[in-house]
Amino acid sequence: MALEDLLAVVPAGSAEEGLARHVDFDRLPQHIAVIMDGNGRWAAQRHLPRVEGHRAGIESVRDVVEGSARLGIRVLTLYAFSVENWKRPASEVSTLMMLLKRYLRLELNTLLRNNIRFKVIGRSDELARDVQDELRAAEDKTAVNRGMQFNIALNYGGRAEIIEAAKRMLIARVDPDTLDEARFSGFLYTAGQPDPDLLIRTSGEMRISNFLLWQIAYAEIWVTDTLWPDFRKRNLLEAILAYQKRDRRYGGITQPVVAGR
Ligand code: IPE
Ligand code: IPE
Ligand code: MG
Repeated sequence: MALEDLLAVVPAGSAEEGLARHVDFDRLPQHIAVIMDGNGRWAAQRHLPRVEGHRAGIESVRDVVEGSARLGIRVLTLYAFSVENWKRPASEVSTLMMLLKRYLRLELNTLLRNNIRFKVIGRSDELARDVQDELRAAEDKTAVNRGMQFNIALNYGGRAEIIEAAKRMLIARVDPDTLDEARFSGFLYTAGQPDPDLLIRTSGEMRISNFLLWQIAYAEIWVTDTLWPDFRKRNLLEAILAYQKRDRRYGGITQPVVAGR
């Protein structure tokens, strides 16, 4: 996957094409994580119920998943529902879950066609049985794919993930003398995956909201005022181009941006 694959799905002469031609494909972020925020505000601006914002946000998910896979991003993680989001009205939560199920059912073939491997990260066992079944089916059917890893963070909390990892580590009776950061990472939901190089948040809020707390230690953060339902490949390309201008120092001294570590 590379420039030609992306150009195949963007209109000739469009802003996306111009942006895509500036991307340095040798220095792509390996892992992009996205806090998809602003669906409610998008709906409010249109005097629509909040759930209409979630519905519209599905199109952004499709566009970004396709764009990332075609660019050659190794891992894409989308934050869809936090452990704190249960505080919302039950009707909003159930609509979100229904939309998720529908997305998976409608998009499974696209995921398969694009060699995308799907995985849920979060306490999926606390979700309704029908949602769990749909998620499991998508994971199983895409398990053999070797293209982009697509994680959906669902009923996800960064602190909860760290606690769960610690519990699993204790159960596995890990010898404290052998415990280091790499070993601990192996107990997280994202075991075996590179840490995010680029963290995108839509809708302008300057906070992490309990997302991937361990993994974003050295992620480059890019916040846009664009609301999630308005976010498209063009915005993704803008984020990547901004990332490629960053000077990643990891506490050291200036060196060029490199994907991963
Ligand atoms: C993000 O949009 C979607 C979820 C958190 C599920 P919001 O629903 O948080 O939208 P705002 O932030 O209220 O605009
Ligand atoms: C973060 O958005 C969670 C998801 C995108 C799923 P929220 O809208 O829940 O975050 P806060 O409440 O603004 O921090
Ligand atoms: Mg929000």
